[in-house]
Amino acid sequence: MTPQSAPNGRVAVFPGSFDPLTNGHVDIILRSAHLFERVIVAVLVNVDKAPLFTADERVGIIREVFREYANVEVDTFDGLLVEYARQRRASAIVRGLRAVSDFEYEFQMALMNRHLEPTLETVFMMPAEQYTYLSSRLIKEVFHLGGQVQGLVPPLVEQRLREKSAAAGSRQ
Ligand code: PNS
Repeated sequence: MTPQSAPNGRVAVFPGSFDPLTNGHVDIILRSAHLFERVIVAVLVNVDKAPLFTADERVGIIREVFREYANVEVDTFDGLLVEYARQRRASAIVRGLRAVSDFEYEFQMALMNRHLEPTLETVFMMPAEQYTYLSSRLIKEVFHLGGQVQGLVPPLVEQRLREKSAAAGSRQ
């Protein structure tokens, strides 16, 4: 590895779908921003899934929520995560670990990513206890069925969910 391509020990990538951003994600991003010089929140542009929010909408929301954090950058990526991390010269992947149920999937991904790129470390972080049951999927389901998501997502996400649902309603 040439000095120019060496990863920067203080840059971390926090990858995910973020469809939508939850307060659990916000918690992990804040913890990472304390630990690393720069955190790149990398939104997966997933062509297979049909997300509720487009990649541009998800990026816009996260940028707005973290607009006052100079060391939090928001970007999109597709293809292999390790390749993206290499291009961005990141030395770590950050993932949130909520419960034992997350462990198997995260363990597989971390070891596969290590197999693909041994110099890239995966760092797991626990969110605050009140967010351990949160997931983007549950947020969408609860909101869709008329439940309260206040306090579980940033106010901007609540607003965008309401706008989506109003737009969907006006098309019916
Ligand atoms: O928030 P998510 O949906 O659990 O995030 C999953 C993500 C984006 C981290 C994972 O799907 C991923 O890294 N995708 C990129 C493709 C890739 O590198 N796959 C091999 C991972 S072992």
